[in-house]
Amino acid sequence: MKKLIVANWKMNGSVQALKLFAKSDIIAKQSLCDVVICPPSIYIQNAHSLFENSITGAQDCCEIDDGPRTGEISARMLSEFNVNYVILGHSERRLYQNESNDRCVSKIKIAQENGLSPIFCIGEKFSDVEKGHAEDVILHQLDSLTVHSVDFTNLTIAYEPIWSIGTGSVPDNLTIAKTMNLIRNWLIENAGIRAGNTIRLLYGGSVNEHNAHEILRISNVDGVLVGGASLKRSSFENIITSCSLDN
Ligand code: PGA
Repeated sequence: MKKLIVANWKMNGSVQALKLFAKSDIIAKQSLCDVVICPPSIYIQNAHSLFENSITGAQDCCEIDDGPRTGEISARMLSEFNVNYVILGHSERRLYQNESNDRCVSKIKIAQENGLSPIFCIGEKFSDVEKGHAEDVILHQLDSLTVHSVDFTNLTIAYEPIWSIGTGSVPDNLTIAKTMNLIRNWLIENAGIRAGNTIRLLYGGSVNEHNAHEILRISNVDGVLVGGASLKRSSFENIITSCSLDN
């Protein structure tokens, strides 16, 4: 399976930064793995004209198509700009926008109806780890997919331990492998062997140019979701390169 490297720029970047990225050989390196850059939505059109279509993603979408949601952007609108991927359920949206699991799943459904591929983010807090609840939290987040009968065909799951995001702390390889295995088994059980084995699982949380190679070699890690280290062109290029070393 080709690895998927996703840059989540969050509320960072500029038109200038996009132009700089467009000058790099990130697009050429797409033969090594699939690369998606998710800039703030105001820059999606710039990204779309600077990169090939396949490289642009969004960081969120609304759970309805049109209507009274001041400040929101719908999946239908994103699809007009040929956006392929949309990150949904990121822990920062769950925290700062109070997004519930059910709301995230409604967004997944409307994104799929509009032809987008959702990247569903799940992960536990450090307090869950301390209480020994981490696996339950992850399984509960996954269960909402079946409760709302989500279509598994163009879904990607990103496992992001919340305590690892932006902190420089990364779980050890065994812990990542164990969690990815838990998610894979859940997918096989609920989506069937074929779909369950082909859904790409990303790891996210303090991935950088120094640890990406090792993380990408862990079993069931089909790619990475990168925040801070995706903002610097050279680090992001190195992450893409490291993805190809074993494939
Ligand atoms: P980070 O962010 O790479 O800066 O830890 C990852 C994410 O939030 O998706």
